[in-house]
Amino acid sequence: MTTDTTGTVARDGDSRPGGPADSPFIRACRRRPVPHTPVWFMRQAGRSLPEYREIRASVPMLESCRRPELVTEITLQPVRRHGVDAAILFSDIVVPVAAAGIDLDIVPGTGPVVAEPIRTAADVERIRRITRDDVSYVDEAVRQLVVELGDTPLIGFAGAPFTLASYLVEGGPSRTHAKTKALMYGDPELWHALCARLAEVTLAFLRVQIEAGVSAVQLFDSWAGALSEADYRRFVLPHSTTVLSGLANAGVPRIHFGVGTAELLGAMGEAGADVVGVDWRTPLDVATGRIGADKAVQGNLDPCVLLAPWPVVEAEVRRILEQGRAAPGHVFNLGHGVLPETDPEVLTRVVALVHELSSRRADQG
Ligand code: CP3
Repeated sequence: MTTDTTGTVARDGDSRPGGPADSPFIRACRRRPVPHTPVWFMRQAGRSLPEYREIRASVPMLESCRRPELVTEITLQPVRRHGVDAAILFSDIVVPVAAAGIDLDIVPGTGPVVAEPIRTAADVERIRRITRDDVSYVDEAVRQLVVELGDTPLIGFAGAPFTLASYLVEGGPSRTHAKTKALMYGDPELWHALCARLAEVTLAFLRVQIEAGVSAVQLFDSWAGALSEADYRRFVLPHSTTVLSGLANAGVPRIHFGVGTAELLGAMGEAGADVVGVDWRTPLDVATGRIGADKAVQGNLDPCVLLAPWPVVEAEVRRILEQGRAAPGHVFNLGHGVLPETDPEVLTRVVALVHELSSRRADQG
């Protein structure tokens, strides 16, 4: 074990020059100098790729997440095609919850649907604690991937307690999160019990991925932006902190991301992130002011911009790289996931453009 200037413990074995821990992506997460701004895309492994659709045509979503050979292939597809600086494990935020005993499915065009939503203390007890054996397929897939990826880092991930709780309480996707908030305000004790259990499951799930060899983790609190900062601090922050701070000594950078979180960026950083993900609504220089100079940022091209003519895409990429220079580390990404209708060629061009523009800048000192 070695300790770098950020106080992070680097894992043995993978910090050799040129290895994943020395990659532009991990260096940017740790706020170290980079040869070029690293870039990857949330939902890069998915429906924008014909090779993904071909595999998935005959395999349901959750089953594909449980077959290591398919997870490995789908995770590698965008790396091969676009030359991104990191891979993200192909899985879904509900995979560990299903492994914990909750009956659910991912319905095409809808998202996760839970057979019996969580509404009572007895329901919370139905969410079992998980061990590696409950998610052995993830352990196996990560181990295969680390070999296949060589020097390209693999990002592990999980859903944060609030976003998971929203699916479990609502029973499916929701625009208002009304049932979730009703439980949160109406029965804070039950709410905290639910989130504490979800934090345990999430932490265990991320530890399995880290032990199997992922180089970084991202905690998705996609729907936290539905809350005010005061409510976020009271009802959510303690549980996200359990997860992120619980990994403080795990030796991998921790990314924390949500959508519509302009008012929450500072608090989300406080949960124990090394990198805060920013959606397209907040310019990265403004975001850095809110997050503080001790964290890197990730983002934040509007996924819809990828559907615009190339000169528009190019101008937006330039603007984001410029604004990202205000941060002590910048990982280029979208402000949310790739839309299924995105032309994959455009993603490939964006990767090349980010690399070209940011390395030219480094040459110029
Ligand atoms: O980023 C990646 O490429 C890795 C794979 C990944 C998936 N889901 C695959 C997936 C990741 C990181 C996720 C995380 C996830 N899942 C989040 C957090 C990120 C975010 O988007 O905010 C959330 C909220 C979910 C829940 C979920 N799963 C939704 C809302 C959907 C979309 C429903 C639909 O069909 O429109 C899913 C399904 C899902 N997860 C798909 C993929 C590739 C689509 C399933 C398919 O291809 O049929």
